[in-house]
Amino acid sequence: MFYVTTAIDYPNGKPHIGHAYEKILADVLTRYQRLKGVESYFLTGVDQHGQKMVKTAEAEGVNVATLTKRNTKGFIRLWEKLGVEYDGWAETTDEQHKSCVQAILGKLEKEGALYKKSYAGFYSVRQEQFLTERDRNDHGEFGDEWGEVMEIEEENWYFKLSDHAEWLRSTVANDDLKIIPEFRKNEVLNAIERAGDTDLCISRPKERMSWGIPLPFDPDFVTYVWFDALINYISFAGYQKPEGSGLPKFDSLWPADLQIIGKDILVPAHAVYWPCMLHAMGFDASEMPTLLVHGFWNVKGDKMSKSLGNIVDPDELAEKFGTDTLRYYLCRDIRSGKDSDFDIERLVMLFNTELANDLGNLLNRSINMTKGFCNSTISVTNTNNAEDIALRDCLSQSVSTYREAMDNCEVSVALQAINDHVTHCNGYLERHKPWEMKKDESKLSRVGEILSHTAESCAQLAVLLRPILPDAAAKIFGQLKKDDLMKLTLSDLKWGLLEAGHQTGKPKPVFPRIQIEEKES
Ligand code: MSP
Repeated sequence: MFYVTTAIDYPNGKPHIGHAYEKILADVLTRYQRLKGVESYFLTGVDQHGQKMVKTAEAEGVNVATLTKRNTKGFIRLWEKLGVEYDGWAETTDEQHKSCVQAILGKLEKEGALYKKSYAGFYSVRQEQFLTERDRNDHGEFGDEWGEVMEIEEENWYFKLSDHAEWLRSTVANDDLKIIPEFRKNEVLNAIERAGDTDLCISRPKERMSWGIPLPFDPDFVTYVWFDALINYISFAGYQKPEGSGLPKFDSLWPADLQIIGKDILVPAHAVYWPCMLHAMGFDASEMPTLLVHGFWNVKGDKMSKSLGNIVDPDELAEKFGTDTLRYYLCRDIRSGKDSDFDIERLVMLFNTELANDLGNLLNRSINMTKGFCNSTISVTNTNNAEDIALRDCLSQSVSTYREAMDNCEVSVALQAINDHVTHCNGYLERHKPWEMKKDESKLSRVGEILSHTAESCAQLAVLLRPILPDAAAKIFGQLKKDDLMKLTLSDLKWGLLEAGHQTGKPKPVFPRIQIEEKES
């Protein structure tokens, strides 16, 4: 089974466009596996413990359990609206998760992988971690990224991370812990150099912060939020759970094929703590997940933040422009692993040119002319005409580029491959002008051949679009009267999905142009 996970979000506010992008990316890549006929499981959820949640609850004057429940509902509602279809939902306040975390902690403590000590140092409330001298900036200060920094002295429990540093270095270097894109691997190797010798504080004293999972062997402490949250990837995948627990069979899922995360939580959490935790639990190098690390959505070059007031709300955008428009833009305008600037004018421009004008027009013209000039009937599948052969070759090329790109998780490259074929088809129509050819009766059979080629192209492109724009693909199949293509697997994608004699339906714009109203002055 192909196992996809995402980071689990803190529900201490509303989801923003960055959270939405990650869930859509995971949804797209899972749907792509299904398109290939590969059985898949997609887990996502929310990271409900920790000090951030407590702080927000205090600021909002509600108790933390109320805040957690209320905001979690908001995340679930949005994912549904954005067509994000997950198989498992991870909430870290869930009892099954808590008991799994406690069982792991109990075992690690028994095996001597944990110890208790007193430590005095600086603590970042925002990042919920102790800071070291290495975290100071060039001016010798703890920068804004750490938020409020407090000096504290307290006893805590530590995980012997340093025991695994050497093993981790070779595991990353040998690509047993695979990191996509490749350029992030160095960042990880550097982080191991920097942090490999430091143990990880995995508890917080209850008297300071009680919103967490109690340590089973020392009830005065709760589990550090990251140690708790990372375990979701296995606890909700049925780790050490008997059949009948309602969770999946762990052996069929683990190791995860794709753990999708943003660049900010690669090190140390996912590429240092998580593999070392797994190793301490008894997983070996061949049982490490693959990390897919995406970049950030910024706004005019700035990081999105409440203080800058530049948070982009995906709910509002989906309401205004529709889910498919937002999904298309987010997949189209970010390069694998890199940052991108969220730009609403580009969203509208890309939709209007690439979907409304190019693909939409191709589809509309093909179905409309097939209806008007060919009695809604597909006349042929194959011909020997050189232009038709070139069109079929172009489609094969697009399909193979699409496959390679999607296998490499490069969705924007896959969309480019789809668009390349759309451009080819529109050029082909412009050159042949079937709307003029049909005036000459002797050319009617050629008109049928041409329209059969563009309609067939639309059917195939809609199959490729299925993971990214499932609703639009369904509408296209509806107009082509080929609803069964919603179930076709990629290995069955061959020329001739619309067989000779097939009757197509009525055209209706699938991508109506977005009209932007000018402001009245
Ligand atoms: N709760 C932790 C993750 C625990 S995983 C065991 C967390 N949550 S978060 O809500 O802050 O972020 C959730 C995900 O959203 C992370 O993968 C993060 O990188 C991603 N993004 C947050 N801001 C983002 C952008 N501006 N752009 C793209 N993704 C970003 O970290």
